[in-house]
Amino acid sequence: MDKRQRDVAAMFDRVAARYDVANDILSLGQDRAWRRLVLEAVDPQSGEMILDVAAGTGTSTVPFVEAGAFVVATDLSLGMLSVGRQRQPQLTFVAGDALRLPFRASSFDAVTITFGLRNVEDTSAALAEMARVTKPDGRLVICEFSSPTWRPFQRLYGSYLAAALPKIAALVSSNPAAYRYLAESIQAWPDQPRLAELITAAGWRDVAWRNVSGGIVALHRARL
Ligand SMILES: C[S@@+](CC[C@H](N)C(=O)[O-])C[C@H]1O[C@@H](n2cnc3c(N)ncnc32)[C@H](O)[C@@H]1O
Repeated sequence: MDKRQRDVAAMFDRVAARYDVANDILSLGQDRAWRRLVLEAVDPQSGEMILDVAAGTGTSTVPFVEAGAFVVATDLSLGMLSVGRQRQPQLTFVAGDALRLPFRASSFDAVTITFGLRNVEDTSAALAEMARVTKPDGRLVICEFSSPTWRPFQRLYGSYLAAALPKIAALVSSNPAAYRYLAESIQAWPDQPRLAELITAAGWRDVAWRNVSGGIVALHRARL
């Protein structure tokens, strides 16, 4: 693991205890709806094995378990995993780096990652690693912050990220610096078509996306 990745893991270790509460407040509760859409997009079938990469405290994994799917949650931050194990003892957590997943090739019917890919040091390498552990014809679903599609809203959203989000985060989070990082990383993240290109280049096919909440979030899907 290189230094930047260690810093990201350490940052999530520090915010772990209040991560889920801060998320609900900062997304005005929208994150719950986004997570339900991820479940619908993955559409787990009986007997399938699903992998939730960068699962954090398991909040993105819970809807899968509630739907009766067999799902493994993996994350790099031991702090996030430990909070997850306490709060969601029914989940299967495995410590693991998205760039070197601790699973054999072709293990999963579907792999999903929610608000995690942006945090991984090398996006293309993570997309290729997720392809490695996916069975032939398996599915990929990525939920990530993206670019609002309505131009007048783009500027407003840019100001929210740059000015308002860090101030609100200072009130609700134990680590406001983590939310400055959040705002900066969202602004630096590739837009919908560019991310689709990266997914295709990593070996996935039939890449498509759906904008949610006006493009604040996009769900990309693909097949192997
Ligand atoms: C914003 S949280 C998302 C957690 C969860 N998926 C959710 O939706 O609540 C991002 C997660 O990515 C994890 N992460 C960052 N880099 C990673 C890597 N290289 N491998 C695995 N997890 C990583 C962090 O530890 C953190 O838990």
